[in-house]
Amino acid sequence: MTDLQQIQQSALDAVSAAGNIQELENVRVAQLGKKGVISAQMQQLGKLPPEQRKEFGAAVNQVKNAVTEAIDSKKILLEEKELNEKLEKESVDVTLPVRPDNKGKIHPISQVIDECVAIFAKMGFAVEEGPEIEDDFHNFNALNIPPNHPARQMQDTFYLPANDDSPLVLRTHTSSVQIRTMENGKPPFKFIAPGRVYRSDYDMTHTPMFHQIEGLYVDKDVNMGHLKGVLHKFLKEFFELDEVPLRFRPSFFPFTEPSAEVDIGCDRSGGEVKIGAGKDWLEILGCGMVHPNVLKNVAIDPEEYQGLAFGIGIERLAMLKYGAPDLRNFFDSDKRWLDHYGFAAGGN
Ligand code: DAH
Repeated sequence: MTDLQQIQQSALDAVSAAGNIQELENVRVAQLGKKGVISAQMQQLGKLPPEQRKEFGAAVNQVKNAVTEAIDSKKILLEEKELNEKLEKESVDVTLPVRPDNKGKIHPISQVIDECVAIFAKMGFAVEEGPEIEDDFHNFNALNIPPNHPARQMQDTFYLPANDDSPLVLRTHTSSVQIRTMENGKPPFKFIAPGRVYRSDYDMTHTPMFHQIEGLYVDKDVNMGHLKGVLHKFLKEFFELDEVPLRFRPSFFPFTEPSAEVDIGCDRSGGEVKIGAGKDWLEILGCGMVHPNVLKNVAIDPEEYQGLAFGIGIERLAMLKYGAPDLRNFFDSDKRWLDHYGFAAGGN
């Protein structure tokens, strides 16, 4: 056996003997590293008479390639082996019982959304979604809120860098989903759209991100009676009461005509708000009949179709039903708060 053959053989033996990635790396350095055995052979090249250089160079290269290849394939094997060992070691016994103190809770916002979806589903409302980054058209213009309309100032909008001259905003209300959904379909429409909305505001009852549920029902012959009926039924079911006194107070929203705010009867005398009894009123949502301009903006003929719409603040519902006093705590991610106000998965 020539010297080179011997070098190759012992290098290959060392590769097969390597039991882990580190040992293999040591072999690589010892053979192919700057000061390695095979590299040293390369350096012999200069000392040889020119006529032998070519042949010797080719032979050393062959050894180098064979050893490199052996190292590469051994590396794949060892990596696989190490991964398998790791998986084996770190396996989890899924049959172990959950430790009750470590159990996750459902956030009150998710809980309220789930309850609303279930109640409206019984009345035939589907669920729709829209993007949280909206354009001017869907958040404002199409909803009959033209540029410079005072309603734009009222909403403390977060503006984003413009996209092709059309300003982008973080949606200020879920009403934008009315437009998105009607644009992409044909009437009748009957859906709710729960989701996050954003306004630049922060105190005990305002956070820059909060949640709304939009409702829209567009069909032939939809009227204010349907609006009252749907909301009355929803509020009774949500607050789990046989009866809730409601008051429809005339109001203004650019996208509805007529518009109303709905107050729910309550009692504030005991220091906290008790829903469904007493002589006080609490504003709970905005609603109205879809403005003909809104229908026209999505190519629906207002002579043929009418719609009812409503917008409900989810945090407000959650605070009233489950009694969390400071809205800001909802988004602090404080586990103690969640342990107290959260819900067990799969019902409570
Ligand atoms: N978009 C309104 C807001 O954020 C809420 C609202 C009021 C929605 C009346 C509606 C509606 O659909 O009819 O203040």
